[in-house]
Amino acid sequence: MNAEDIIRAKRDGRELTRDEINYFIQGLVNGRVADYQAAAWAMAVYFQGMTPRETSDLAIAMAYSGEVMDLSAIEGIKVDKHSTGGVGDKTTPVVVSLCAAAGVPVAKLSGRGLGFTGGTIDKFESIPGFRTELSRQEFIDQVNRIKAAVISQTGNLVPADKILYAIRDVTATVDSIPLIASSVMSKKIASGADGIVLDIKVGQGAFMKDLDSATELAESMVAIGRQAGRRVAAILSDMNRPLGWAIGNALEIQEAVDTLRGRGPDDLTELCLVLASYMVYLGGAAPSIEEARAVAEEILAGGKGYHKLCEMVAHQGGKAEDLERIAEIKPARLQVEIRADRAGYIRGLRTDEIGRIVMRLGAGRERTGEAIDHAVGVKLRCKTGDLVEVNDTLAVIYANDPQRLEEAKKAWSEVYTWGEDPPQPTPIILGTIAD
Ligand code: URA
Repeated sequence: MNAEDIIRAKRDGRELTRDEINYFIQGLVNGRVADYQAAAWAMAVYFQGMTPRETSDLAIAMAYSGEVMDLSAIEGIKVDKHSTGGVGDKTTPVVVSLCAAAGVPVAKLSGRGLGFTGGTIDKFESIPGFRTELSRQEFIDQVNRIKAAVISQTGNLVPADKILYAIRDVTATVDSIPLIASSVMSKKIASGADGIVLDIKVGQGAFMKDLDSATELAESMVAIGRQAGRRVAAILSDMNRPLGWAIGNALEIQEAVDTLRGRGPDDLTELCLVLASYMVYLGGAAPSIEEARAVAEEILAGGKGYHKLCEMVAHQGGKAEDLERIAEIKPARLQVEIRADRAGYIRGLRTDEIGRIVMRLGAGRERTGEAIDHAVGVKLRCKTGDLVEVNDTLAVIYANDPQRLEEAKKAWSEVYTWGEDPPQPTPIILGTIAD
């Protein structure tokens, strides 16, 4: 067996065997397969696709290409949640808290933001003192004690995905469904949870632009989970508009806290309740989705989710009382309202562009390792479907650098599509695919 034959086989549309996939993935990690061979192979997969069996074998080969988290020392059915990346997505602090308050353990590894979507770890780090690096033992002990911990991904999990993703990123091969499905699921499998809830974003601000391709991705991921012995549910959610009103790290944590206190935006609250219901159900704390929903709603209404977040923050080095005023502790120096210079209905938002504007304000990074500014961001005041009068406030920009603020103001005019009539309303939940 050699890499060239495997590339040729895929180029010519042949289904690869499990041994060939294992050989190629192991070769990527041990250096026997060169980067340029991986690039050619990724392009062959991009054009030829993969069968469900090949995709599952690829995910499992990548998952076991390095260290795999052993969560067996944590009592109960462990659940995890993953979002394919969106703008204003602050569901993790909310759903982890709701789920843990229902008694279902969540031992969560999260990532930092890159490009126009934010990262959960960056958001949590806007809480002063919050430690995102715990030792393995601290992590397990905390989940056993309070059912929840969120830490940053360790260096040696799924090395094959790190290598392959970096190659895909520069060879126009990211947007291949089998490669995305296996990349995401390899990390989830290696993270050790028994149940996995996927939030697959669909629309202009997401990888998956339309419902058909998002459904195909979801089905592929659920099938990989089944093959790997994990229970998986995939929720398809709308990303043609940012989730909630706030985009930017501290602003998003504030909105997550507001949501746990029952004052969150409707779209964010609904998505969190749906995700939490599936986590509670997969975690065995309710016998049906309907009953799991009732559990999640009761926890939210009774404030138990908020108390769980306070407990988690206190365990990880922050102060629970800071959560009430996260965005005011170190506020952005410059806060500017953007006003409408025309009247009409907002028919659409360029969600990816909003993500880029917030990133360029300093909330995100273009390259791994860049420092970020937790205070900056945008709070929307109007969204798709709203009727706007001249001079209404459309959004507030939070900045620390006058030049970046000017650039954001200029770019903001490109964000809206206007019309004389309202667009068709779309729900936040577009579908569910469960095992
Ligand atoms: N997110 C991932 O982790 N991998 C992909 O391939 C795409 C999005």
